[in-house]
Amino acid sequence: MAERHAVVTGATRGIGWAIARRLAEDGVRVTLIGRDMKRLVERASSIGADFVACDVTDAEAVGHAFAGLDHVDMLINNAGIAESAPFLKSDDAQFQRMFDVNVLGAVRCTRHVLPGMIEAGWGRVVNVASTAGLRGYGYIAAYAASKHALVGVTRSLALETAKRGVTVNAVCPGFTETDMTETTLDRIVEKTGRTREQAMAELTASNPQGRLVQPDEVAAAVAFLCGDGAASITGQAIAIAGGEA
Ligand code: NAI
Repeated sequence: MAERHAVVTGATRGIGWAIARRLAEDGVRVTLIGRDMKRLVERASSIGADFVACDVTDAEAVGHAFAGLDHVDMLINNAGIAESAPFLKSDDAQFQRMFDVNVLGAVRCTRHVLPGMIEAGWGRVVNVASTAGLRGYGYIAAYAASKHALVGVTRSLALETAKRGVTVNAVCPGFTETDMTETTLDRIVEKTGRTREQAMAELTASNPQGRLVQPDEVAAAVAFLCGDGAASITGQAIAIAGGEA
């Protein structure tokens, strides 16, 4: 993995931060992409990484960000957002918000690195999807639609690049211990009047292992997919969810 350069989006916290840390530990040169400059500076300096600030919904900013980077060997499309609502309260704008970040964010970043990977005859794209990219759940139609779409992009692009030394895979975590899940817990408490413990019990019950997934466990799978040993694994959507999906 040494000498290789990875870009991780949404890299300053949660799963993205765990991935950036893990790749840096493995000797990869890492560039963090995020929106919060202060956090980017702190995080990058703590692992000896580079950073560039950009919002993945801003096509022009994404273009500028990638234009300033050296050749990218590995791209981890992790930036994502989640909103929940009953289907009849999920308006077009909610679907569009989910797609803009969770699908087009990944597409935009991938567009910039793919030509270089193909030319080099080696590349890794890992999309952080979700178990909601593999099956449905109530009250998250827009999020699930976006994650299914991201899995669709993954599978199609994998076929397109199969003979070029580039692999394209998705990892599909179940509920993972991050700020995003904290927000989900807050929402359940607010909407249902359940206690935080009850809300947590509900989330962990969806995982047959009865616990939240740890960000480091997602990072370990991503690191594996980025290695030379995973060269024949492409077009896969791998659940990291204790047997849930
Ligand atoms: P998080 O909310 O802690 O982190 C998401 C990161 O993405 C943040 O750093 C945020 O600033 C960044 N981000 C969001 N919109 C962005 C934009 N427009 N441009 C640039 N960066 C942006 O969430 P977490 O849990 O670490 O999620 C990471 C990924 O994992 C997301 O794609 C999420 O959908 C996915 N995921 C999370 C699960 C969970 O239970 N936490 C389960 C399954 C998938």
